[in-house]
Amino acid sequence: MDLRKVTIVGGGVLGSQIGLMCAYVGKEVTFWLRSEGSVERTKPKLERYSELMINDLLGAKALVGSPMGKYSYPRGLIRDWDSATAESIDDLAEAAKERFEKNIRIELDLAEALSDADVVIEAMAEDPKAKIQIYTDMKDLLPEKAVLLTNSSTLLPSTFASYTGRPDKYLALHFANTIWKNNTAEVMGHSGTDPQIFSETVKFADEINMIPLQLHKEQPGYILNSMLVPFLTAAQALLATGVSDFKTIDLTWELATGAPAGPFKILDIVGLETAYNINRMKPDAQVEGSVSNLIGKLLKEKIDKGETGVNSGIGFYNYK
Ligand SMILES: NC(=O)c1ccc[n+]([C@@H]2O[C@H](COP(=O)([O-])OP(=O)(O)OC[C@H]3O[C@@H](n4cnc5c(N)ncnc54)[C@H](O)[C@@H]3O)[C@@H](O)[C@H]2O)c1
Repeated sequence: MDLRKVTIVGGGVLGSQIGLMCAYVGKEVTFWLRSEGSVERTKPKLERYSELMINDLLGAKALVGSPMGKYSYPRGLIRDWDSATAESIDDLAEAAKERFEKNIRIELDLAEALSDADVVIEAMAEDPKAKIQIYTDMKDLLPEKAVLLTNSSTLLPSTFASYTGRPDKYLALHFANTIWKNNTAEVMGHSGTDPQIFSETVKFADEINMIPLQLHKEQPGYILNSMLVPFLTAAQALLATGVSDFKTIDLTWELATGAPAGPFKILDIVGLETAYNINRMKPDAQVEGSVSNLIGKLLKEKIDKGETGVNSGIGFYNYK
């Protein structure tokens, strides 16, 4: 299978990054967005992430020849670090600028966006109702050949398979934020996923410079979020219950483990809306006074002020 024409459904934090990553390696990318308003929100994201990608790429020139380089180069942008030179990196940057310009289009008409897609990546908000609606809308519009992937962080493909009209060609390909650096791609099918399609998805992930991490069975939160969500929840609980302030919590983690970013810096990168949506699904989220309820209120207050994380320029920290 040649999975060359990629349609991304949703142009948020992750959708934008996935689309750019696909264009970077030469895939033809179409974004389907639901409204002119979405287009106005997505365009600046594409500009911002493409700039970050090019900056990180050019920044890697300073790492060439350094023994530490192999630990910090942008893995999604440079496939073969050992043979990278300043000149080869310049060439990659030039090619990237051209591809970002030529290989990406935005489409508001869903039928048009899907008409010739080899692979469709659903990267819409983490809202089961909205996901069911979009799968239902896409069902009769997808070409027979299309593989349908979801980037959902917390929901299982088996929950949605029956709405897609192609359960055998449907599975999860889960990316991590800042995918051009943190290039993991967790591949997780449901019991009805065709093993051949699973293998093609692993190959596709490799083609777009990700490191495919295969799960042998469905697991809510995959491998990464099975670890990350409880960690971030614990940090938010410390803040929401007044045990400490976010800077001290981050500092504690960074000093004690040597990690470059504490939980609130990570939350700013993830985006507070995503964190809010994940928290909202907790069974006690509506129970007044519960820790989940306190976390929800804290996040909602910040979201209402537009403080949604790195993406909006301010979250727990100020990036302006
Ligand atoms: N943010 C992360 O770190 C991260 C990491 C891995 C996976 N994901 C997953 O990726 C998906 C998207 O997350 P995100 O962080 O990019 O979210 P986001 O809020 O930045 O973007 C969501 C996108 O979905 C669109 N959307 C929302 N409701 C819609 C509807 N009803 N119809 C059409 N479009 C709609 C929005 O306009 C936006 O473009 C989620 O499933 C999330 O779990 C997120």
